[in-house]
Amino acid sequence: MPLATRPLLFFIIFASSLLIARVQAKVHHHKWEISYQFKSPDCLKKLAVTINGQTPGPTIYATKGDTVVIEVKNSLLTENVAIHWHGIRQIGTPWMDGTEGVTQCPILPGDTFVYRFVVDQAGTYIYHAHYGMQRSAGLNGMIVVKVPDGFKEPFTYDREHSILLNDWWHNSTYEQAAGLALPGKQFTWVGEPHSLLFNGRGKFNCSLNVGGTCNSTNPECAPYMLTVVPGKTYRLRIASVTSLSALNFEIEVQYYSS
Ligand SMILES: *[C@@H]1O[C@H](CO)[C@@H](O)[C@H](O)[C@H]1NC(C)=O
Ligand SMILES: *[C@@H]1O[C@H](CO)[C@@H](O)[C@H](O)[C@H]1NC(C)=O
Ligand SMILES: *[C@@H]1O[C@H](CO)[C@@H](O)[C@H](O)[C@H]1NC(C)=O
Repeated sequence: MPLATRPLLFFIIFASSLLIARVQAKVHHHKWEISYQFKSPDCLKKLAVTINGQTPGPTIYATKGDTVVIEVKNSLLTENVAIHWHGIRQIGTPWMDGTEGVTQCPILPGDTFVYRFVVDQAGTYIYHAHYGMQRSAGLNGMIVVKVPDGFKEPFTYDREHSILLNDWWHNSTYEQAAGLALPGKQFTWVGEPHSLLFNGRGKFNCSLNVGGTCNSTNPECAPYMLTVVPGKTYRLRIASVTSLSALNFEIEVQYYSS
């Protein structure tokens, strides 16, 4: 073959491999409305920052190389919003990193902002609010990025589950922040969390009568249950969005015969 045609051939091979990559990568669209809602994650009713009425927010599922598009509408009325996609490298899209005041202006009340980025590494990630202490108020969730078809992980499993851990205060985030932010307060933390949450569920002791609405049989605070079958292998994707607590995660095994 004449030397001069070689670069052209390379270009054709390169361009067609790009085309294949394009065809395989998917675009995932999400439409989120951020609002305050009354929630009882640990049985005590409290205002939480929610995504489409949920806390934690919906899990984002994608495959390495896919594009994720999230249309975020701020319906908080008096607070700005920005969402950070923790662990996503944002190569070529630094303005989608969601750090308010650093990579973007916040999303003003009533406004909508469209995040659009490529998930370029497989793994387990989290997203959380990056304005004030809204992360602690409930605006958080998980991102699961799978390996592309045909690629093998160094382990095999039958099923997978995601577990998001959090610490939770009955105090408002403004009460939590006051001791940290006010001059002269010498960095006073609000105190130990009132509950720890597994996938947004915990159990506060309603008999302590701390006031407010506490209902221990509210289904919102029923314990998170994971049913497993002996002999099967499960992958647990574990993430934490705690503010203060460093948690140890243990599995207690109990056998039931049916
Ligand atoms: C946090 O809430 C507890 C009761 O739930 C209350 O006793 C305490 O004073 C609150 N802390 C602040 C800083 O508001
Ligand atoms: C809940 O609080 C009540 C009242 O202080 C106490 O008697 C009870 O033992 C507590 N229950 C648990 C599970 O801690
Ligand atoms: C507590 O929640 C249960 C389940 O939702 C409900 O049936 C019950 O009426 C509630 N109790 C009170 C005192 O609100």
